[in-house]
Amino acid sequence: MLRNKKILIGITGSIAAYKIIHLTRLLVKDGAEVRIIVTKAATDFVSPLVLSTLSKNTVHQELFANSEWANHVQLGRWADFFLVAPLSCNTLAKMAVGICDNLLLATYLSATCPIVLAPAMDEDMWKHPSTKRNIEIAKSYGNYVMCVNNGELASGLVGEGRMVEPEQIVKYLKANFCRTSELGGKKVVISAGPTYESLDPVRFISNHSSGKMGFAIAEALYAKGADVTLIAGPTKEVLSFESINRIDVHSAEEMYNACMGYANADILVMSAAVADYTPVLTEKNKIKKKDESLTIELTKTKDILLALGKQKKAGQFIVGFALETNNEIENALHKLNHKNADCIVLNTLNDKNAAFGFDTNKITILHKSGEMIAFDLKSKKEVAEDIVSFIITKLND
Ligand code: CTP
Repeated sequence: MLRNKKILIGITGSIAAYKIIHLTRLLVKDGAEVRIIVTKAATDFVSPLVLSTLSKNTVHQELFANSEWANHVQLGRWADFFLVAPLSCNTLAKMAVGICDNLLLATYLSATCPIVLAPAMDEDMWKHPSTKRNIEIAKSYGNYVMCVNNGELASGLVGEGRMVEPEQIVKYLKANFCRTSELGGKKVVISAGPTYESLDPVRFISNHSSGKMGFAIAEALYAKGADVTLIAGPTKEVLSFESINRIDVHSAEEMYNACMGYANADILVMSAAVADYTPVLTEKNKIKKKDESLTIELTKTKDILLALGKQKKAGQFIVGFALETNNEIENALHKLNHKNADCIVLNTLNDKNAAFGFDTNKITILHKSGEMIAFDLKSKKEVAEDIVSFIITKLND
């Protein structure tokens, strides 16, 4: 999502400046172009040489260096957004009143791009009425102000004032400045992960689905501007975007009810590995070990994709998944037709490093028109992007 984004970072004098080394790495790794301005105080905490090496760009510090004028106006116009992190109490106060005594502040005052501030200071400074007022003033100027974390502070005290972690900053930038609008206004629902079918309070029947693929699809759809609801079975996965509406469910029945509540969505992606059978009885108490064998009666669960396909609305786009071990294409085509989907994403356990649990997957998309596209083994993030691109192409056909 950050590919080719031009990000200007302004670092001020705070111990949290060391975190910008990691942040720069994350941004560059994600494909962003990073330029950095430091204040004099920042250089006491972080070396410009490290920052220029990681960002692959000269680090700017002075308004005038070697008889040359640093073009702060050009820097602010070059950037897609300007992140000031860590933002010290002192620089915040200067921003609030418009003081311009260094390159960072000159760039701030002349920047035409969105500006994000990530404050960092000790709790007492953070809670001081003047800081509170300055934060409000900074917000009133249209700056985006990130929260501070609670935790260990440079003073040794524990409290509010820690700068947010680099990963939080990356998420924030992606969520606020990197979404495109191809799916703007579209309501999308995704099912993901396994379901747990309880036998008793202790045990359940399930499968090896991790939910990774479905979560990646939800994020890829969100990145394209869609209004996303993710219905997730039990999983350790976490979403990068707070604005995705996540609904956690356990059983196939709960997943069915949750999905049917979103049956009118414009795009439905059913990637969950829903249990096909569930115990007829869930024992109230733990089943005790008795005989040599134990027979459990199971009953079929409701097929969510089938139900959605049966009541498919005009213009709705439904994506199903098929995980196969044999007769892959034949089985996937059967699911495509029988469940009235627009396309089926096929993955097979015969492909190395694909499907359950891996960070990579290899898929073939079968469309109802007869079109069939086989993709290479890729990261699940890239696979999700391929699926979303396919959906967008078909919606625009
Ligand atoms: N699916 C569903 N509800 C179920 C079972 C499956 O919505 N109760 C959906 C899955 O989310 C997937 C598609 O149906 O999109 C195919 O799931 P899969 O388990 O591969 O196929 P089944 O129809 O269950 O058939 P089988 O297990 O016999 O392969």
